[in-house]
Amino acid sequence: MKNLLVAGGAGFVGANFVRYVVQTHPEVAHITVLDKLTYAGKRANLAGLPTERVNLVVGDICDATVVEPLVQQADAVVNYAAESHNDRSLEEPAPFIQTNVVGTYTLIQACTKYGVRYHHISTDEVYGDLPLPTTPTDWATKFTPESRYQPSSPYSASKASSDLLVHAWCRSFGLNATISNCSNNYGPYQHVEKFIPRQITNVLCGIRPKLYGSGRNIRDWIHTTDHSRTVWEILMRGKPDNTYLIGANGERSNRDVLRLILKLMGQPQDAYDQVTDRPGHDRRYAIDATKLTRELGWYPVMTDFEQGLRNTIAWYRQHPMWWRDDKAATEARYAQHGQ
Ligand code: NAD
Ligand code: DAU
Repeated sequence: MKNLLVAGGAGFVGANFVRYVVQTHPEVAHITVLDKLTYAGKRANLAGLPTERVNLVVGDICDATVVEPLVQQADAVVNYAAESHNDRSLEEPAPFIQTNVVGTYTLIQACTKYGVRYHHISTDEVYGDLPLPTTPTDWATKFTPESRYQPSSPYSASKASSDLLVHAWCRSFGLNATISNCSNNYGPYQHVEKFIPRQITNVLCGIRPKLYGSGRNIRDWIHTTDHSRTVWEILMRGKPDNTYLIGANGERSNRDVLRLILKLMGQPQDAYDQVTDRPGHDRRYAIDATKLTRELGWYPVMTDFEQGLRNTIAWYRQHPMWWRDDKAATEARYAQHGQ
């Protein structure tokens, strides 16, 4: 794997992956990032990386004339490019169908044509949600690779569609691909529209944090560096046409996460507003990552959530220029929906 093509590598999870590979895998001679630089992508996310090893091509994964020559030169393609935010998908689904479905189709067609290895980045949300747990048996119930696809939002339905395309291309056209479905990531470079950065930057701006509905919804948090490490392992050692679920046993309610942010930022525990809930809001996500441990000997490393959150808060505190413009636009958009 000397030459990688990372689609969506200027977004949150993709940029963290590019940084991880540059820092830990000197055998990768070159990474080309293909990114449309939508509202969510930034050149700044790749700042400071060695230009002889990383270059950015600004372009659309739906455009075969851009995609094909880049795929032809690559040993492997990792696809992070996506429309990624549930709330936006509820307002305007069209770009989700275009990028997540048509974009994936365009990439896998090119990989099939040139016999290039493909890894598809996906989400646990393709499995829908689990009920809020009340018994030990409920807590033990988690998503597995055998769980039924049952997406709730336009975003998760578009990601589910893209997963199904990848499986079909493996079976019908011999595409050499793997898929990973990861739980909620946190860490640096995450857009301020997302839960954790939104609340951190709210506190930094003197705005009261905003909790949707009851705040009892549960997300399964993983540090984005653990996600990157896992994707690399799957790229190297994953079995063709296999799905790997990535999660770090990080289940917490939104309310608990918010209260921890408030504590770490020296605020009163009740200094937040409960706002209009997200329509169709998924209740609980929980990943059973047994297959990763069994097949690849994988385990999460960054499991101290409080320390990870402390570092993330410090990153946003230290990089106001990175998020300030997005913050104003994001809050104006949320305000239109009473959120
Ligand atoms: P993001 O919105 O921060 O980044 C997406 C990137 O894709 C941006 O740089 C954007 O410019 C680029 N992009 C969008 N449309 C494009 C197009 N048509 N052509 C080329 N580039 C395009 O998203 P993220 O949170 O980094 O998520 C990346 C991937 O990881 C997504 O597939 C998402 O489903 C998956 N994922 C994310 C999480 C999470 O918690 N953030 C968890 C599991 C899986
Ligand atoms: O599970 C993986 C998914 O995690 C990824 O596929 C998505 O790309 C990623 O955005 C994330 O989806 P969520 O919808 O879980 O993330 P979000 O940060 O939007 O919200 C996390 C939880 O916090 C969710 O239950 C909604 C709630 N929330 C969100 C915001 C923005 C609030 O309570 N208040 C808020 O202001």
